[in-house]
Amino acid sequence: MSFADPQSPAWEPLLAAAWKARERAYVPYSGFRVGAALLLPDGTVVPGCNVENASYPVSLCAERTAICAAVSQGMKAGEVQALVVVTEAASLTPPCGACRQVLAEFSEDLPILLANRQERSLCAISELLPRAFTGRHMAR
Ligand code: THU
Repeated sequence: MSFADPQSPAWEPLLAAAWKARERAYVPYSGFRVGAALLLPDGTVVPGCNVENASYPVSLCAERTAICAAVSQGMKAGEVQALVVVTEAASLTPPCGACRQVLAEFSEDLPILLANRQERSLCAISELLPRAFTGRHMAR
């Protein structure tokens, strides 16, 4: 299935999982619920939600909790196929800088669908974080 089109039915299971995960967000400080979901090569959909902390900088974004959950389920670098991020904000929510770096670690060209209740927008990690620093840059 194609992830090149934001309206493709391929996104539907990821959107459903991300909206469900968003309801589970732990956001006592910001109240800003974020849901994410990513797809593994075998068709498994892994959800994520933001998990905040009284020590604010320790809070985790939905994108990173999805990546961590996927790695704990056996995902290897390069295997993530697609990612969805959902919020109810009027303006679509793109991954923060820290999450862009984490996503770039696991895929060089990840399609990412940003969605709220009204609209969708498709982007790629290569567009959000061009010339990302990766392990390749540590080669001598
Ligand atoms: N947040 C995410 O989970 N993902 C994003 O893409 C942007 C920000 C979370 C972090 C924090 O819990 C809340 O949204 C407000 O910044």
